[in-house]
Amino acid sequence: MTDLNKDMERVLLSKERIAARIAEMGKQISEDYDGKDVVVLCILKGAVHFFSDLTRAMTCRMEMDFMSISSYGNSRQTSGVVRIMKDIDVGITGRHVLIVEDIMDSGLTLNYLTMLLQAREPASLRIACLLDKPERRECAISPDYVGFIIPNEFVVGYGLDFEGFYRNVPYVGVVKPEMYQK
Ligand code: IMP
Ligand code: MG
Repeated sequence: MTDLNKDMERVLLSKERIAARIAEMGKQISEDYDGKDVVVLCILKGAVHFFSDLTRAMTCRMEMDFMSISSYGNSRQTSGVVRIMKDIDVGITGRHVLIVEDIMDSGLTLNYLTMLLQAREPASLRIACLLDKPERRECAISPDYVGFIIPNEFVVGYGLDFEGFYRNVPYVGVVKPEMYQK
């Protein structure tokens, strides 16, 4: 049987640690949005598992929506120029919007995306990221909610990919360097 574990150098965040942290984040976010309706926006594809688990850990009234973006760049680095493959369905003017993203790296993608969404004049706009690599930041942006601050290493799993693969790995791991040096 194919074993994706073999491609990993090590596990950075186990599925148990991820689940425990998301439960805490869900509680915190639910307190912060208490009494408000929220549009929770999943940024496809990387945020798919995080979004699914986080929204189920939240108790506030929410609408879910999905945005599919693809950023130009090489397979491990973004250029910050984002192409929208699928836009949001609901209007967000005057509404509270929470963006749910897998990781903030250079910050260029979310910087661009927040600029785009701010132009639609939401009542508030916040960002929840499972992972944050602050060392890599190239612009003045940081997530409002962070699952884990991680070192400057390329990670996959729990939605994060390398060239489209490994999103189904249930933990966050570091791929063996030979996998992308090939
Ligand atoms: P940023 O624009 O540099 O902040 O990059 C954001 C996007 O780059 C994320 O949504 C991911 O798709 C991708 N990315 C950045 N770091 C990693 C990583 O370590 N593993 C997988 N994807 C990553
Ligand atoms: Mg992504």
